[in-house]
Amino acid sequence: MMKWIVTAALIGAPVLVAADGVAPADVTFDDYGAVETSLSGTPGDAANGAAIMGDKKQGNCVACHQISALQDVPFQGEVGPMLDGAGDRWTEAELRGIVANSKKTFEGSMMPSYFKSTGYIRPGDAYTGDAASEPLAPLLEAQQIEDVVAFLATLKE
Ligand code: HEC
Repeated sequence: MMKWIVTAALIGAPVLVAADGVAPADVTFDDYGAVETSLSGTPGDAANGAAIMGDKKQGNCVACHQISALQDVPFQGEVGPMLDGAGDRWTEAELRGIVANSKKTFEGSMMPSYFKSTGYIRPGDAYTGDAASEPLAPLLEAQQIEDVVAFLATLKE
């Protein structure tokens, strides 16, 4: 009986690991912050990546970056560098690393780490005033990161 209850509790736990793909805590960064292996195992969709980057509810990269290719998206910020030519400046592995966890490439960066679920400094549990229990869901899913990387790779001067 007890055994059955435990099993049911496990099945009811939130699933933070993508069906196919790597969990945020298991991503391997090289010494320079690059991530060689696809997070999802499925090639990214650049058009969807562009939509994610321009969407205030998803990546909202335009809050800090100007991107000429997204000229239809208004109010692009200037906190970070313009991303035109990012596909020339960085390899796909480097771009994946920057989006997954920018701090591994740029020490102390203010850019959010989009594929990170642990190691936050006491994030609040919504409205309770308590620290949230980790792991948290990452800001973007593995496939969304791959889509963003695919779009960044198209940004050539
Ligand atoms: C809060 C601001 C902020 C947000 C939001 C943000 N970034 Fe950044 N990003 C930065 C800053 C600042 C840098 C410069 C590196 C540093 O931190 O010193 C940077 C650097 C980069 C670089 C390298 C720049 C280059 O061309 O050489 C890429 C690529 C990048 N960001 C992609 C993204 C993507 C994709 C998103 C959304 C998924 C995003 N950023 C969201 C602030 C931001």
